[in-house]
Amino acid sequence: MSFPKQSLPLELAIVVPTFNEKANIDELVNRLGRVLQGIEWEVVFVDDDSPDGTAEHIKQLSLVHPRVRCIHRIQRRGLSSACVEGMLSSSAPYLAVMDADLQHDETRLPVMLKALQQMGCELVVGTRYMEGGGVGEWDESRQLSSRFATWLSQRVLRVTLKDPMSGFFMLRREAFMSAVHNLSSMGFKILLDIVVSSPRKLSFTEIPYTFGLRHAGESKLDARVAWDYLLMLADKTLGRYLPTSLISFGAVGSLGVIVHVLVLSLALKLLAWPFTQSQTAAVVLAMVFNFHLNNFLTYRDKQLHGWMWWWGLVKFMAACGVGALANVGVASWAHSGGGGWLWSGLAGILVGLMWNYSATAIFVWPQRRKT
Ligand code: GDD
Ligand code: MN
Repeated sequence: MSFPKQSLPLELAIVVPTFNEKANIDELVNRLGRVLQGIEWEVVFVDDDSPDGTAEHIKQLSLVHPRVRCIHRIQRRGLSSACVEGMLSSSAPYLAVMDADLQHDETRLPVMLKALQQMGCELVVGTRYMEGGGVGEWDESRQLSSRFATWLSQRVLRVTLKDPMSGFFMLRREAFMSAVHNLSSMGFKILLDIVVSSPRKLSFTEIPYTFGLRHAGESKLDARVAWDYLLMLADKTLGRYLPTSLISFGAVGSLGVIVHVLVLSLALKLLAWPFTQSQTAAVVLAMVFNFHLNNFLTYRDKQLHGWMWWWGLVKFMAACGVGALANVGVASWAHSGGGGWLWSGLAGILVGLMWNYSATAIFVWPQRRKT
């Protein structure tokens, strides 16, 4: 079959994840038009049903601007998964990812494309951490956390990129496709995800750029992004054996132990309560803490609010109450069978954890139907 040729073949797709970025869209598309003259390009915005109407705005723009496309996702959240869907939707041989807020220097795009076309590498990364690049006007704490996250990925996942946290990069479609089936698609760090999910080491070039100031709107980077990042590291190392939601549930549980010990010691020492009351208060508060944090982090896509939060808490406590009985039962049985106290205790914890995880996954945060 042959189709009439409409225009030159598409070369480059720029994938832009958006959440509440309405005020940045026009300026970004204008700038892309300016710097990408002579290149056949399209921009694919992937919007997670932003309350500010970003998706509607993009669709209006695409009526008059044929290079603009919009993927509108419902009941979904996540920068990485948005980028993956945007890249999958395009047939362009070169794929770029950048933020909508103009913090990434769009004038680097033609240089990045040239590097892929002429130098034969598979990936070009916009890097802040090399001569000629920089983080711009970041406060001390953001600089420190970015450096720490970079160091961690270099240590844990052995990546050799100078700026694996970068959200600004371009790669060949085949390179992306070779990694796509292994991606975690969690959180913000899509570049790192692609690099470590690729079955072979991707050849890369790094190009310096300075992280600019946000044009309009607010950053979405928060504590959950940090948690997602740690989970992604866990997924890339332990994920073959354990589901990430179990890793997250277990990590929250370990934090709960700290809360328990803190409350217990405060009640005993500061309030001079009797032991049984102090321990009871510690159990209840640790349960509320665990429930809240799992609702906020592990099951944020099924997060309970308002009355459902309270009903969820009741079910969570009931489920974990049974888990505690199972824990004590198994530990006592192991101990009476001659097991040492530590191993018996740990066996009880393991059974309790598995019960709590499974029961709450079914009764407190059940699977929703996907659209
Ligand atoms: N579709 C979708 N869904 N888009 C999202 C979501 C989401 O849940 N969360 C954020 N985005 C979009 C934002 O609208 C923006 O276009 C882009 O992802 C980056 O979000 P920011 O909130 O601006 O993040 P940042 O500037 O703090 O961090 C960026 O730069 C870092 C350094 O390069 C991100 O690119 C990080 O991944 C990167 O490490
Ligand atoms: Mn930003």
